[in-house]
Amino acid sequence: MLRELKQLKGMKRHLKETLFTLHFVNIFKYKSVDFLEKRKWGKRLYYNKERLRFLLTGKVSIPFLSYFVTSRCTLNCTYCNAFMPSYTKDTHLLPVSFEQFKEDMDKLLKSVDKIHVFQFIGGEPFLAKDLSKMIKYAKSKKQIETIYVTTNATIKPSEKLLDSLKGVYVQLSDYRHIKGIKLYYDELKELFNKHKINMCLYEEENDSTFYTLQEIYEKEEDRKTIEDRNIYCLTRRCNHLCDGKLYLCPTQIHMDRNLKLDMYDNVVDIRSCNSNELTQKLIDFYSLPYYKVCRYCHFENVKRGQPRGEQTIIHISQPPEIAGGGAV
Ligand SMILES: C[S@@+](CC[C@H](N)C(=O)[O-])C[C@H]1O[C@@H](n2cnc3c(N)ncnc32)[C@H](O)[C@@H]1O
Ligand code: SF4
Ligand code: SF4
Repeated sequence: MLRELKQLKGMKRHLKETLFTLHFVNIFKYKSVDFLEKRKWGKRLYYNKERLRFLLTGKVSIPFLSYFVTSRCTLNCTYCNAFMPSYTKDTHLLPVSFEQFKEDMDKLLKSVDKIHVFQFIGGEPFLAKDLSKMIKYAKSKKQIETIYVTTNATIKPSEKLLDSLKGVYVQLSDYRHIKGIKLYYDELKELFNKHKINMCLYEEENDSTFYTLQEIYEKEEDRKTIEDRNIYCLTRRCNHLCDGKLYLCPTQIHMDRNLKLDMYDNVVDIRSCNSNELTQKLIDFYSLPYYKVCRYCHFENVKRGQPRGEQTIIHISQPPEIAGGGAV
């Protein structure tokens, strides 16, 4: 407890932001999160609960974690915020196997208190042939509160995958207005309704648009500038686990894998340490006063209002071979 009390100061920001992060990723509109976030006492109550959990367990809770199943995709969106068009055959992450997923999750779950929202993401997660097994495994873990899978609706799920999706939320991205791509959006909606699978149709319901991507380059900047960028960047709440490494956001994965930029130790390699070391590394990661990698991100020319899912005509990488994955 004494050690945790000492660590509490560094963890304060992370613990305070947990409720806001849940509110930010709350596309399923949990009423309790909304209710608490809108009230001063609600925020304080939640913060105290998180603080107490940290003192008692000595472990971090991750509000939102995306498991990066593969960087391969069936589409090639120009403004993909996971930078899919930049991946090459040397930098692609091939679909993860169940064995690898299990190893990563067993290791991570030993060192965290809980994961509030856990998302399967990519690339296109339905490309992974072991996805149904991975979902079932994640569902069996009490430390994971809510699970969802985001798909671009280009692949029909098999019976096995449909079965695993019960009790999980499926976020269907809506690219139906893009000409020349084959989508099963409406069929999937019907199928999920029939199988009583929860759906999130955020893009359809909100007619949302894409924003263009930030420019990534090195520039000498003072600490305050980087710190402010990090504080105001909502993407930093979309932590990703990719190839055994915990990243702040998908942009950082792109910086590491494709651009080979210095990560300034702003990554936790979960495969390279034992569970005790990992517990401490995660505390250190979430206690960082600011993240130096954010100095590469330049949002000055980012524009909103791009058509969702617009396809790029310049294929920087070879189009990936489409594996059977979760498809029928
Ligand atoms: C990176 S995709 C990965 C999952 C899957 N391939 C898909 O498109 O649904 C995750 C989500 O990010 C959204 N997204 C991607 N690029 C975006 C951008 N530039 N602006 C806003 N949303 C974006 C997609 O529409 C999708 O809902
Ligand atoms: S479908 Fe588009 S947004 Fe989703 S990962 Fe593929 S390229 Fe990115
Ligand atoms: S690297 Fe930092 S500033 Fe850039 S998107 Fe990620 S969290 Fe935001």
